[in-house]
Amino acid sequence: MSAKIKLRSQLHLLTGFMAGFICAFVLLLYVYDVSRVSPCWSSSSSSSSPVSIATDALSRAEVLPVARILCMVLTCPENVEDLARSVYETWGRRCSHLLFVSSEHYQPLGVVQVVEASGGSYEDLWNKTREGFRHVWENFGQDFDWFLKADDDTYVVMENLQHLLSGFDPDTPVYFGYKLTRYNVSYMSGGASYVLSREALNRFMTQAYESPVICPEPKKMGIEDFYMGICLQNVGVHFVDSAQSLDGDPRPKFMPLNLEHYLADSNSTIPDWLRLMSVSRVETGLQCCSNYSVAFHYASRERMFLYEFLIYYLRVFDHNSRAERNQRYLLTSTDLNSRFPLEDNLNIKDLIQMSEKPENF
Ligand SMILES: *[C@@H]1O[C@H](CO)[C@@H](O)[C@H](O)[C@H]1NC(C)=O
Ligand SMILES: *[C@@H]1O[C@H](CO)[C@@H](O)[C@H](O)[C@H]1NC(C)=O
Ligand SMILES: *[C@@H]1O[C@H](CO)[C@@H](O)[C@H](O)[C@H]1NC(C)=O
Ligand SMILES: *[C@@H]1O[C@H](CO)[C@@H](O)[C@H](O)[C@H]1NC(C)=O
Repeated sequence: MSAKIKLRSQLHLLTGFMAGFICAFVLLLYVYDVSRVSPCWSSSSSSSSPVSIATDALSRAEVLPVARILCMVLTCPENVEDLARSVYETWGRRCSHLLFVSSEHYQPLGVVQVVEASGGSYEDLWNKTREGFRHVWENFGQDFDWFLKADDDTYVVMENLQHLLSGFDPDTPVYFGYKLTRYNVSYMSGGASYVLSREALNRFMTQAYESPVICPEPKKMGIEDFYMGICLQNVGVHFVDSAQSLDGDPRPKFMPLNLEHYLADSNSTIPDWLRLMSVSRVETGLQCCSNYSVAFHYASRERMFLYEFLIYYLRVFDHNSRAERNQRYLLTSTDLNSRFPLEDNLNIKDLIQMSEKPENF
């Protein structure tokens, strides 16, 4: 009799445990699915590899010079407290200088207004980008080597960007990103973020910005990234597709989709436009993206913190590392008793007395 009850309660426990596990799993999937991003606009073209910064292993004298990278993040008033703040609290801290540009000042995050309050919508994106670059050029043009343009729903791994840029001279005209082609015009996807060298920005501002002949004038059109491609081609800037920017690493590094959409090993999560317009091969699964990936688009606040945790916090225990192994020692039974004393099972000693307890929980 009591054995039967015991078995039953064990079964309940097991079912409860399994149900809990399934619920958690379903919830996780649901959370992923509903964590849709609503950026200020929705651009048409719009890896959790562990980062081990080599300086650990280098002596002080050998520390490599670090490029000065200014990050210009486009945002809008509706997004400052959600997406812009997430950038500010995660990857933005690793920029040499982080600057948000918008159609309204916002003091807590140092957001700068670069266009009229009425000129901040998706239609005005090209003007906002142009004016953002003008602000950056006038105030910081000589103080930085590289200029990253990201949207407020982009997540960037700054150390991998440093790695990618270390092979290039900022005084040569270069432009990095995820290369797309449309109407036979090449450009870098805006949502995946792109990077201009100091010389590329110089040419944009001194030769392209004012010229309606070689660079589209501000007008009600949202294709900021496409226009930027036109302007930079016309002033002799080299386009470096991220798939070709590191020798021996032919995978893309600026990703125009979010990581889950690449990792879901099916074509349904890869939109047709991406395959049609991409210059590099679009692969799914773990082969999708370089181990030194730099940027991922469509990052909600939740996704930014997910990337942040997986890249910078989560550690995989290394059994062969003496330092990690030495943090553990074998507990004596005295330690075991004092640190993990036995549970007080007074109330469950006699299961017959438990019959009035609920059966399901
Ligand atoms: C672009 O922005 C500037 C700065 O706010 C403004 O003076 C100009 O009128 C805008 N142009 C268009 C076409 O919106
Ligand atoms: C692109 O260029 C190719 C070769 O020059 C040409 O055949 C094609 O019509 C062009 N496509 C567009 C959309 O202009
Ligand atoms: C996905 O599409 C590509 C190109 O259209 C094709 O080569 C590949 O086999 C497809 N993969 C799957 C899993 O359907
Ligand atoms: C990327 O990382 C994985 C896991 O460590 C490794 O197996 C793979 O060889 C790496 N790929 C490249 C191209 O280095």
